[in-house]
Amino acid sequence: MSQNKTKIAAINGSHRGDRGYTHFLINKLFEGAKKEGAACEEIILAQLKINICKGCGVCNTEKHLLKCIYEEKDDVVMIFNKMREADILIYATPIYVFNMSGLMKVFIDRINATGDCNKFRLSESGLFFHHVSKDIYSKPFVTLICCDNFENEISKNVITYFKTFSRFMDAPQVGTIIRRSGKLTGHGESPEKEKQFPKIFESYQAIENAGKELTAFGKISSKTQKKASQDIIPVPFFSLLKNFKWFKKKALEKVKDMQI
Ligand SMILES: Cc1cc2nc3c(=O)[nH]c(=O)nc-3n(C[C@H](O)[C@H](O)[C@H](O)COP(=O)(O)O)c2cc1C
Repeated sequence: MSQNKTKIAAINGSHRGDRGYTHFLINKLFEGAKKEGAACEEIILAQLKINICKGCGVCNTEKHLLKCIYEEKDDVVMIFNKMREADILIYATPIYVFNMSGLMKVFIDRINATGDCNKFRLSESGLFFHHVSKDIYSKPFVTLICCDNFENEISKNVITYFKTFSRFMDAPQVGTIIRRSGKLTGHGESPEKEKQFPKIFESYQAIENAGKELTAFGKISSKTQKKASQDIIPVPFFSLLKNFKWFKKKALEKVKDMQI
């Protein structure tokens, strides 16, 4: 990677690795970022060895301070080094049962070994917390989420999680993109399905623009985030109507026998 380029590292938490929708969406964002000259790298957790933190506490003993028992036994230190080098991080995860993927959480839990839990500080948001290795985690970041459902509620936990993460870790959140209804539109693999949902093209274009904005301005505008995350169901006022149970009951009647 050249010296002056913006470096973007995307951490892909999908258990399907480079076969999944998360990978597809990361690539869309990278397409835009590369057009603005960014150096982009995807870290596919599913292809790497990431042990589960055992909670043994060895990393917080005097003798082994900030050294995880798995340090030379898996790929986490290598990932941390890539995160150190990056200017902007993307945490990209599918929704698994109303939350981030297990793999993403297992990876994030390993952060614990990089903070001295006996040294206290106030975060920039004024929150009481322990020391963190700022060179790894306290970086501008984007959350990129995908799922199959169309409800806003489905991604609520992940959004809240990363807001909290940002406030404790002094990591500025510079964008959130939620791509719902993935299955309906064929997870980026079905031109036929996409044709039935023309707004998906607007969304993908916005994700590409998000990559451009991220590289040029260091953040994604709220207009682009909104476009990228928009509802794609071709029913007038769907975003409003989907908040009403009577509408969803009617819709359910219509689609109950459909194969999607
Ligand atoms: C274990 C598991 C749990 C899931 N839970 C949800 C869910 O709660 N809500 C939802 O909308 N989609 C859910 N999905 C669907 C995925 O979020 C969706 O297909 C996503 O696009 C997958 O991304 P990927 O292809 O990158 O893995 C789940 C998928 C799996 C495998």
